[in-house]
Amino acid sequence: MNPIETTIRELHSHRDEIVTLKGWVYNSRSSKAIHFLEMRDGTGLCQCIVALDDVGEVLFEQAGQLKQESSFEITGKVVEDERSVGGYELHATGLKVIQVAEEYPITPKDHGTEFLMENRHLWLRSQRQWAAMQVRNAIQFAIHRYFQQEGFVQMDAPIFTGNAAEGTTTLFETDYFDEKAYLTQSGQLYGEAMAMAHRKIYTFGPTFRAEKSKTRRHLTEFWMIEPEMAFYDLDMNMDLAEGLLKFVINEVLDRCPSELAILERDLGALQKAIAEPFVRISYSEAVEILTSMKTADMLDRMMAEREEEKTALREELEELQKEHGSAKKWRKAQIDRRNREIHKRMDQVEEDLRNIPKWKESAAGFEWGSDFGGSDETVLTMQFDTPVMVHRYPAAVKAFYMKRDPEDPSVALALDVLAPEGYGEIIGGSVREDEIELLKERIAEHDLPEDLFSWYLDLRRFGSVPHAGFGLGLERTVAWICGLSHVRETIPFPRMLGRLRP
Ligand code: 4AD
Ligand code: MG
Repeated sequence: MNPIETTIRELHSHRDEIVTLKGWVYNSRSSKAIHFLEMRDGTGLCQCIVALDDVGEVLFEQAGQLKQESSFEITGKVVEDERSVGGYELHATGLKVIQVAEEYPITPKDHGTEFLMENRHLWLRSQRQWAAMQVRNAIQFAIHRYFQQEGFVQMDAPIFTGNAAEGTTTLFETDYFDEKAYLTQSGQLYGEAMAMAHRKIYTFGPTFRAEKSKTRRHLTEFWMIEPEMAFYDLDMNMDLAEGLLKFVINEVLDRCPSELAILERDLGALQKAIAEPFVRISYSEAVEILTSMKTADMLDRMMAEREEEKTALREELEELQKEHGSAKKWRKAQIDRRNREIHKRMDQVEEDLRNIPKWKESAAGFEWGSDFGGSDETVLTMQFDTPVMVHRYPAAVKAFYMKRDPEDPSVALALDVLAPEGYGEIIGGSVREDEIELLKERIAEHDLPEDLFSWYLDLRRFGSVPHAGFGLGLERTVAWICGLSHVRETIPFPRMLGRLRP
C-alpha cells in the first residue's frame, strides 16, 4: 500500500501511520548516524528523524546535503512526541530530494529589518512572518463571516476614481486616457450609493494614500473594510464596530492559538480587550483625560519604571559578560540568546525613555479642536484594557461628509476606535450628512469641486435617509491582534514611503 500523502497540520489524525510529507528544510542538524531535518510545509513545522539504520547509506548521504530551504519529500512513521514542535515527529523510512537549495541568505541569526525587507519574498517563509499571515487570513475570513451572518452584502468600490474622498493632500494621481484619475483613498462614497440599493453593504478592498509619513502605522497601500448602513445612527454604528471587533478577536483566539504562540502574543491582553463593553467617550472627555494630572502622573510612573528596568538590564548584561568567558558551549549559546533578548528589550526601553517626555508634553498641552496625534492616542489607550471609542470630534478636523451633532454643531457625529496597548486608531467612521444644502456647503468649505460630486449629491436628492458607516484598517488591526510593532509585517508585500520592491 502506498503511504498516505498529507500535511503537517493533519498529522494528528495519522498517529502511528506511515505518511508522506512534502516541504522545505527549515533547520537541520546532524550527528554521526542521524540527521534531524526540521520540515516546514506551509501548514506547520515537523521534526523529521533520518537515521542511517532506517534509510540506508545512499539516502542518508542525500539527506545530509539538504541545506536550509532545500525542497524534499519524506516518508515515515508519525510518532507522537510532546517535546517536538507541533507535537509529532516523523521517523523516516524514505526520502526524495526535489531541489538542493543554494546558500540561503536568511539564517536563524538576527538580521536587520532593512535586509529582511529587501528579502521580503523569502522572509515570508520565516515562522513569525508565516504566523502573522495566517492570523491575517483568519481575520479576513472572520470579517466576511461576521458581515455575511449579519445580513450585509459585499460590494466592491472602484479603485480608479475621479474625486477625493478623504482630503486632497494624500491622493495618488494617475493618467486615465488623458483624464486625471486618482487611486481610491476610500470606497465610502460609492458605499453610500450601494447602501441606498442594498441597505447594508460592506466593501473589502485596497485603498491608497500618498502619506509622506514614515511611522509604524502608515502604508501607502492598505486594505480597508467599509460597512455602510441605511437608517443607522451613531450609536448603532458604534455597536456594529464593537460587535465586529469582538467577533474577529474571538475567532482568532479560537482558530490561531499556535500562531499567536509563535508571535508570543500576550493572550491575556486580547481576552481583556473583549471581556467588557468597549469604553465610549466623547472627544471632549478624551481631551480632559489627556490633560489631567492622572495622565501626567501615569507617564511619570512609566518613566521611573523604565529607568529601573534599564538599570536591571544593564546589570544582567554585565553578569552574563563575566560568565561568558568560562562557560560551557551549551551555556554560551544560552547566554548569547539571552543577550539578544536583552538588547532587543533595551532598544524598546530606550525608545520609551526618549518618547515618554514628548508624549507627556503633547498630552498636557493638548488643546480642544486639534486632531489627536499618534502619541496622544497611545497615551489615551494605555489607560484602558478595552478599545476606546472616541465620538463627536470637532467638525473642523474631520471630513466634509460627516453630519454635525444637532445638539452641538461644532462637533461631527464621528467615531474613531482606538486599539489598546498603545496601538491607536484602527477604525474611523461617522454618520453622513444627508441634507443636500448642508452637504453642498461642506463641499464648498473644503474647497472641493461640486461638479465632481454631483452623483454623490444625487443620493441626497432621491430618497435621502439617515445613514452611517466606518472604515476598518486591516493592517493596523492585524498589527494589534498579532502584537506587532510595525504595519510592515502585517501585509505580504508592504508599500510605504521608500519601499516599492520586492
Ligand atoms: O479614518 P480613515 O481615513 O476613514 C476613512 O477613510 C473613511 N472614509 C472610512 C469610512 O467611514 N468608510 O481611514 C479608516 C482606517 C483608519 O482608521 C486606519 O485604520 C486605516 O483606515 N488607515 C490606514 N492604515 C494604514 N496606512 C494608512 N496610511 C492608513 N490610513 C488610514
Ligand atoms: Mg481616521
